[in-house]
Amino acid sequence: MTSPIYVALDTPDLARAHDVAARVRAHVGGIKLGLEFFAAHGPAGVREMATLGLPIFLDLKLHDIPNTVAKAIQALGLLAPSILTVHAAGGRAMLEDAKAAAPVATRVVAVTMLTSLDAADLVDTGVGGSAHDQVMRLADLARTAGLDGIVCAGTEIAAVHRAWPKGFLVVPGLRPADGAAGDQKRVVTPRAARDAGASVLVIGRPITGADDPDQAARAIGATL
Ligand code: C5P
Repeated sequence: MTSPIYVALDTPDLARAHDVAARVRAHVGGIKLGLEFFAAHGPAGVREMATLGLPIFLDLKLHDIPNTVAKAIQALGLLAPSILTVHAAGGRAMLEDAKAAAPVATRVVAVTMLTSLDAADLVDTGVGGSAHDQVMRLADLARTAGLDGIVCAGTEIAAVHRAWPKGFLVVPGLRPADGAAGDQKRVVTPRAARDAGASVLVIGRPITGADDPDQAARAIGATL
């Protein structure tokens, strides 16, 4: 079975990203490249990473008018990413056009609320209600706009999975039970996220920051 783990290579350093990916490739299902990598290396950097033969998750969190996002996705489609992110807050027309512009094999998933935002940020940006309500509202928007799924925190998977059983749920912010944050009560383990309905587990530093990334990825995979 293909691993649900996508290793997050959050670095603008192409050599380092390539080195880590090459070391863990046998124990992950794909690699996630974000804005910092893309800003530094662009499509050529993505193509270089694709030579490793792993599916590529382009986490660019697109958010603009529908026409601009659709055109950007048409261009990114040439890279055949397995997963692409957009912001659900971009609205229904943007989400529909994003999905229509993507290759059929690319899963387009929506970011609901950045985990860096707190209750005060919601108030500042004019959003009433709780963070949970906002996530559920945007998940519903993504579903009815025809997207494949959403990005959500480990603590929200169960509720989103109930509301959208067929949704493709991408879950970041995970920590292995034996990791440094293992004694924190609210940390969700990769296994718990999988059991709650996660389709993809995004794991960065627990793998990329380990002395032996290959062993770390293998150990996490063994818990699933
Ligand atoms: O923390 P870690 O290094 O595993 O993060 C991997 C990815 O998950 C990062 O690319 C980051 O964008 C995302 N993340 C998140 N919310 C968190 C922690 C990480 O969205 N609380």
